Amino acid sequence: MKLSRSGIWLLVAALVVVLAGVGPVLAQPKIPADFGFDQGKDSPGKVTFSHSKHKEAYEKCSACHTKVFKMKKGQTGKLTMDAMKKGTQCGACHDGKTKAADKVVFTVDDKANCEKCHKK
Ligand code: HEC
Ligand code: HEC
Ligand code: HEC
Repeated sequence: MKLSRSGIWLLVAALVVVLAGVGPVLAQPKIPADFGFDQGKDSPGKVTFSHSKHKEAYEKCSACHTKVFKMKKGQTGKLTMDAMKKGTQCGACHDGKTKAADKVVFTVDDKANCEKCHKK
């Protein structure tokens, strides 16, 4: 079968549309598996961060990346409770004020919550 010139352009146009649809999906980085942070001085226990447990914010990577956290492990710098209590790092949400799915996100500034992040 011989394609007419306009037929070829139609094929090209269709291909562009298909690629434009697939492109952003392929460009999306995979959701990382759970990982732990190196413990700072006097850290009461190992903290593991779970992308999958942060489902509310899950689909919007921009909730954390890249304003709050760099998209590379260790690149955000040292995580400290002082910074978190000032509302940065994990404290950007874990401040006892921010709501997600109608629930207030537990604060870093309460002894009852230390163990929610720091596991012995
Ligand atoms: C609730 C906050 C949060 C959300 C939402 C989030 N991330 Fe992350 N992500 C982190 C943290 C924390 C790190 C580690 C940063 C560091 O160590 O400096 C990280 C690191 C990463 C890394 C680097 C992992 C590595 O091994 O270097 C990738 C890739 C990543 N995230 C992808 C995503 C994608 C894709 C989404 C959206 C589906 C997403 N993240 C949503 C908090 C989040
Ligand atoms: C939302 C999660 C979260 C909660 C809640 C939390 N922390 Fe942390 N904390 C972290 C992360 C992440 C780090 C960095 C990794 C590490 O040092 O273990 C950290 C580090 C620390 C450190 C070492 C660095 C520094 O700031 O001196 C101490 C000490 C600490 N936490 C104490 C506490 C205490 C005490 C509580 C409860 C009042 C608490 N944390 C609650 C996430 C949390
Ligand atoms: C963009 C907002 C946001 C940031 C930033 C964030 N969290 Fe969360 N986190 C949430 C929400 C929302 C929940 C689920 C609501 C709840 O249980 O309070 C949650 C739940 C958790 C839980 C409980 C998970 C479970 O077992 O159900 C842990 C542990 C936790 N976060 C640790 C962290 C640590 C450590 C950091 C920093 C590295 C962090 N989060 C940063 C929003 C955030």
